[in-house]
Amino acid sequence: MNLNIVCIPGDGIGPEIVTEAKRVLDAVAEKYGHKMQYKDILMGGASIDVHGVPLTDEAVADAKAADAVLMGSIGGNTSTSPWYKLAPNLRPEAGLLAIRKALNLFANLRPAVLYDELSAACPLKEEISAAGFDMMIMRELTGGLYFGDRKTVEENGVRKAIDTLTYDENEIRRIAIKGFDIAMKRRKKVTSVDKANVLDSSRLWRAVVNEVAKDYPEVTLEHMLVDNCAMQLVRDPAQFDVILTENMFGDILSDEASMVTGSIGMLASASLNDTKFGLYEPSHGSAPDIAGQDIANPIATVLSASMMLRYTFDMDKEADAIDNAVKQVLKEGYRTVDIMSEGCTKVGCRKMGELLAERV
Ligand code: IPM
Ligand code: MG
Repeated sequence: MNLNIVCIPGDGIGPEIVTEAKRVLDAVAEKYGHKMQYKDILMGGASIDVHGVPLTDEAVADAKAADAVLMGSIGGNTSTSPWYKLAPNLRPEAGLLAIRKALNLFANLRPAVLYDELSAACPLKEEISAAGFDMMIMRELTGGLYFGDRKTVEENGVRKAIDTLTYDENEIRRIAIKGFDIAMKRRKKVTSVDKANVLDSSRLWRAVVNEVAKDYPEVTLEHMLVDNCAMQLVRDPAQFDVILTENMFGDILSDEASMVTGSIGMLASASLNDTKFGLYEPSHGSAPDIAGQDIANPIATVLSASMMLRYTFDMDKEADAIDNAVKQVLKEGYRTVDIMSEGCTKVGCRKMGELLAERV
């Protein structure tokens, strides 16, 4: 099969980790007789440096023409990089928000899994982590506070900033359906997270999720307030299967969930629309402080490539080959510095990519 993939190396460690993900994909292509066709596009700071804007129409058109997009990471150091002297709509992150919107990527899947081999890196007490955990955060990605009207005004000499949080029932319904669909393939439990004790948008969220739940009698649904969820994630993460939530809450909770795994460098993500198309990227950021030193962990990007094979191309056995290669390399004791522990072999970004490619 011919796979048409647009790559966004991006900023910071992005180019290094995407190179390794391509290395692993090429190994898959060779083993299973596929052809990977890559086209790189610029986004974020890399695009600002060349075009003056974080995302061009041409880049969006290239992405739309592809089967899937594989991304590294974008952004720089917010206190020192010149990109952050630009107007907010010209900064690197604006490119990411714009591509999510342009491609209608409303469903963001962020798995948070505690790997047995890395349980020592889990910051939770052993009596909590011993149960293990494996959850999927389903974050709404194109609505809410991120895309509502915003402005900063001055009234009677007082500066005032306004961000608006809106959701209509259709936006809620389509993400809820994705959440329940994925729960059906997992442990059949959905925890819908909101702030319905305060926000109207959350009360609508809860009502629509209840309606959708009627079509999934096998799935257990519970509602949880977001503040309680933040607490439960460190108290008893094993209780979660699918966490279904709106954009801003999902942003915050997915960072928390990834941190409790102790290995944010391992966590992939997929952003999907209503078709098979998807944008796949690691859950972590661009880590500008370690860029170019060949010490970044490419595994989250490699696992994002695996999600791409699974969700966009329906290539389950190829995706399994990548997931197993990751487990194998960990079992053999190879670690990048972020997940290093005593008795293991420390390797750099490139070496990790080579080891994974060999084991595919
Ligand atoms: C993420 C990031 C982005 C977000 C930023 C970079 C705009 O934090 O993907 O979680 O908030 O969505
Ligand atoms: Mg985030």
